[in-house]
Amino acid sequence: MSVLIKGGRIITAADDYTGDVYVEGDRIAMVGESLDLDADRVVDASGKYVLPGCVDPHTHLDMPFGGTVTIDDFTSGHTAAAFGGTTCHVDFVIQTPGQSFAEALDTWHAKREGKAIIDNGFHMAVTDLREGGSLEELARLPEQGVTSYKLFMAYKGALMVDDETLFRTMEVAAETGALVMVHAENGDAIDVLIKQALAAGNTAPHYHALTRPPELEGEATNRAIQLARIAGAPLYVVHVSCKEAVDPIAHAREKGWDVWGETCTQYFFVDYTFLERPDFEGAKYVYTPPPRSRENQEVLWHAVRSDILSAISTDHCAFLWDGQKTMGKDDFSKIPNGAPGLENRLHMIHEFGVRAGRINLNRMVELLSTNPAKLFGLYPRKGTVAPGSDADIVVFDPEKRHLISAASQHSKSDYNLFEGIEVTGSPEVVLLRGNVLVDNGELIAEPGIGQFVERAAFGQELLPTAAR
Ligand code: URP
Ligand code: ZN
Ligand code: ZN
Repeated sequence: MSVLIKGGRIITAADDYTGDVYVEGDRIAMVGESLDLDADRVVDASGKYVLPGCVDPHTHLDMPFGGTVTIDDFTSGHTAAAFGGTTCHVDFVIQTPGQSFAEALDTWHAKREGKAIIDNGFHMAVTDLREGGSLEELARLPEQGVTSYKLFMAYKGALMVDDETLFRTMEVAAETGALVMVHAENGDAIDVLIKQALAAGNTAPHYHALTRPPELEGEATNRAIQLARIAGAPLYVVHVSCKEAVDPIAHAREKGWDVWGETCTQYFFVDYTFLERPDFEGAKYVYTPPPRSRENQEVLWHAVRSDILSAISTDHCAFLWDGQKTMGKDDFSKIPNGAPGLENRLHMIHEFGVRAGRINLNRMVELLSTNPAKLFGLYPRKGTVAPGSDADIVVFDPEKRHLISAASQHSKSDYNLFEGIEVTGSPEVVLLRGNVLVDNGELIAEPGIGQFVERAAFGQELLPTAAR
């Protein structure tokens, strides 16, 4: 199968020019001006942007969490992703305490088997180094293409690890070339605050935020940075939500330490007051870290503009409001934490980042595709439009209006964080390794087309298809 994408505005993290892209099989064969080549399919991209497929480094599909399981499996999650221009993501394998890493990885491979529509890699969420996985087993994961270890410094009694586990994992990462990811919040202090709130009869959704103040995100972020320095491991702080966490990352990066951070789409748009919405609607916005006070939103825009933060993910962790979020009707601590987002990251960042003049198109591509690909060992196979790279391409119509709504989304969730927002700009054709996934609002691909990607070690390149 060959595809010729003609006359589009090709935008990568570095370039912005008009040209043609010729795809042969699963890779980009040629990029040039006025390519005169026959192809099985010709896409007229005049007036459109030609972007590398977006890469989402932070998602939770089919994951047991908070007494239930996230509502999107690999098919519905990937369908949502594809419609939103995301062609690759890295999902979290969760080691349940007592389980070996091999068992955990097998469980997650089985979840995606026959269901995947886009490509994906896996991070390993380490919860137990004593009774379950060993340090030796952890050290062997990068050989299987799992080149990032995730640790939760919060969710006491569930996923949270102590500092010993965090530090030992960092030491292993320093040896194996894995990247350490942290959910940075002080879980011990949060646990005390939750117990105190419930004892005082404070059960409504907004207590989710009041028991997780930004200072506790800042404290844990700084602790992780200092521990990573001592261990000599590179560190990536996930879902940064507030100034208190941005500041230590800015400091670390100014010093030249190996520290990176991401924020997520929702932190630019949803603030604390959403949690106070009546009739339990506030529960839709119970995710962690919680929505913050509004002034943090400008802090985050500044941080992504100035490379204090290097990526924007979705932290897609979708639940139903009716039936799952309602588990916490009488107790905010029982509301499953998480929200949908995979479908709308490009829509929202294009509208309110690029069109609003906060970032340019190159930076948008960098934040949504190139940097996640580079940081997580996928580049240059993913994350750019260049000869030899996988033909993961989004033909994006910058004039197409799109109304964001749960009624038309592809996630199985029954709500959307950005309900009712109309954006100008939407993917029109989405290719995965040369296969058309989405064509003018229609899903073309069948489940099973998505591949598991063995990622390169931190700082290493994943060779383009041509050199494989
Ligand atoms: O609320 C969230 N973010 N749920 C997913 C798990 C996590 O902390 O990333
Ligand atoms: Zn988290
Ligand atoms: Zn997450």
